[in-house]
Amino acid sequence: MHARIRTLEEYHAAYQKSVEDPDGFWAEVAEPFTWRRKWDTVRSGEFSPAGESKWFDGARLNITENCLDRHLAQRGNKLALIFEPNDPKTRHLRLTYRELYQQVCQFANVLLNNGVEKGDRVIIYLPMIPQLAIAVLACARIGAVHSVVFAGFSATAIADRVNDADAHFVLTADGLNRGPKQIPVKSVVDEALLTCPGVRRVIVVEHLGWPVNMVEGRDVWYHDEAKGAALTCPAEEMKAEDPLFILYTSGSTGKPKGVVHTTAGYMVWADYTFRNVFQVEENDVYWCTADIGWVTGHTYLLYGPLLAGSTSLQFEGVPTYPDAGRFWEVIDKHNVTIFYTAPTAIRSLMATPLDNVLSYSLSSLRVLGSVGEPINEEAWHWYHQHVGKGRCPIVDTWWQTETGGIMLSALAGITPSVPARAGLPLPGVQPVLLNQDGTEIKGNDQEGYLAIKASWPAVIRTTWGDHERAQQTYFQPYPGYYFTGDGARRDENGLYRIIGRVDDVINVSGHRFGTAEIENAINQNEHVIESAVVGYPHDVKGQGIYAYVICQDGPPKNAAEAKQWEASIIETVVAEIGKIAKPDKIQIVSGLPKTRSGKIMRRILRKVAEGETTNLGDVTTLLDPAVVDEILAGKK
Ligand code: WT7
Repeated sequence: MHARIRTLEEYHAAYQKSVEDPDGFWAEVAEPFTWRRKWDTVRSGEFSPAGESKWFDGARLNITENCLDRHLAQRGNKLALIFEPNDPKTRHLRLTYRELYQQVCQFANVLLNNGVEKGDRVIIYLPMIPQLAIAVLACARIGAVHSVVFAGFSATAIADRVNDADAHFVLTADGLNRGPKQIPVKSVVDEALLTCPGVRRVIVVEHLGWPVNMVEGRDVWYHDEAKGAALTCPAEEMKAEDPLFILYTSGSTGKPKGVVHTTAGYMVWADYTFRNVFQVEENDVYWCTADIGWVTGHTYLLYGPLLAGSTSLQFEGVPTYPDAGRFWEVIDKHNVTIFYTAPTAIRSLMATPLDNVLSYSLSSLRVLGSVGEPINEEAWHWYHQHVGKGRCPIVDTWWQTETGGIMLSALAGITPSVPARAGLPLPGVQPVLLNQDGTEIKGNDQEGYLAIKASWPAVIRTTWGDHERAQQTYFQPYPGYYFTGDGARRDENGLYRIIGRVDDVINVSGHRFGTAEIENAINQNEHVIESAVVGYPHDVKGQGIYAYVICQDGPPKNAAEAKQWEASIIETVVAEIGKIAKPDKIQIVSGLPKTRSGKIMRRILRKVAEGETTNLGDVTTLLDPAVVDEILAGKK
């Protein structure tokens, strides 16, 4: 059995089999799921010329039957979901598999009663409350395509996604808690929908009990709709390659793209990677701190754990509320055994007094995980020593929205876990390092562009509404490979170390933004003529956002005016994208370093933002080398 790896030898055997006989390997892994009909072919389509993959084609299934129904006989009374609210004084909630099943069915019936049909896209803009998890599964139950939009995105960002997905349905709440703050949510949706004529129905979940504006004929309360809705709902039979969800993510062009994952391959990958990477056992209490609005929350808070029949903890709050000991308090309270978080959270907690973590026992912990960005050695050691007490293996999991699940990582306690290394590839993953011209770099102790040589079950299938874009972004740069956009190093032992993006994408606190996307937002501001955005190293966020901006009225007259313009630019970015994309530094300049052909030399801007003042490289090809001196003089 290759479905569950328990030793290093088993890892090597599974890996070898996955490369030599992928069809046999994945057929064996897929066997234990509930299929309405088995597949005709395990794997079809190829990466070359344009990335067309199909997995388990011909199969029929519903992923929620695998997340819920399948477990009822054995695990009906086992906890599926533990909900820990923002405020520790509020009571937490626990749902068994049977209760979750009933709630999902009830929500599914509400969707059906409101006209949602198989294949319809449903935008979910809900805070991290149980109804978010339930709503996602309810969509999958009836074959609707969910597209969760992180509840920190702005009205403009919601509208763009609703319209791109051509969605007729939106699910939201009255408001959300975020640490000490309460934030209205419904009013953000109302603003967004002013430019979304296609939306027919908005279903509103009551969370804060706040009064909200309900649009007659369009908006309904979930609790009204749920009255009398049945607690069972037949699962829609889906084809293996029917879309399961769309998740928007940033690329190097200005507009976020809708990454599409389909049903069977994603399911198999989510379950397989979850169980093996974290080495999950029946009695684990597993906590992934990511919001369901990101792919980590999709695969490793919701689908992976539920497919595996695990107990998954969902946390509404933030790591620093009511104080910087909250994560550790929650771990002790619920006896969490596996904890999966982001380096940015670790770094922000590291910066607070050590007592915040030392005053908790953390003795339940067994495995620690990291995701979203490279974890620096200092953070790795702090996590290992103070959270894991030196006894918990750390899995540094590298993957992407487009990969659906973990690609490079240690298997906890089995394959090597070395600081600042994601480690070895999972079975089924064939990573390569490429030269700029696309030739493979062989051997260890080498650096290059990270690409993947063969299809795996959860590879991105398309970008919603624009298949060519997916082909151009991922499969055409290096024909025959999936291109990740990351640079990596294979160390002397063959372990992978991720260096960072090689495209115009920056990673802020584990969240991806295109520099062009932020520039587009900044350029909407009335004071702005042109801008250029780069990332720079930031102690807590990993990368910070540095914006160089040319203003309409030339340089500001005084410090007060500069401040006012900067505040106004930030406001625009918050309105266009959301608070998470706020520039950390804005430098108003009178010109940008451009070549004679008008191309901005970002290399120079990056160096200045990084604090490099002498080694700027060749500036002789610049149209006006004097701008560089001005930029250096005004560096923030
Ligand atoms: C980008 C993908 C994977 C879910 C969360 C982010 C960076 C992700 C790691 C890691 C170094 C990492 C990469 C990747 N990244 N995990 N363990 N070590 N870098 O998903 O928003 O799609 O971003 O995040 O640069 O390309 P995403």
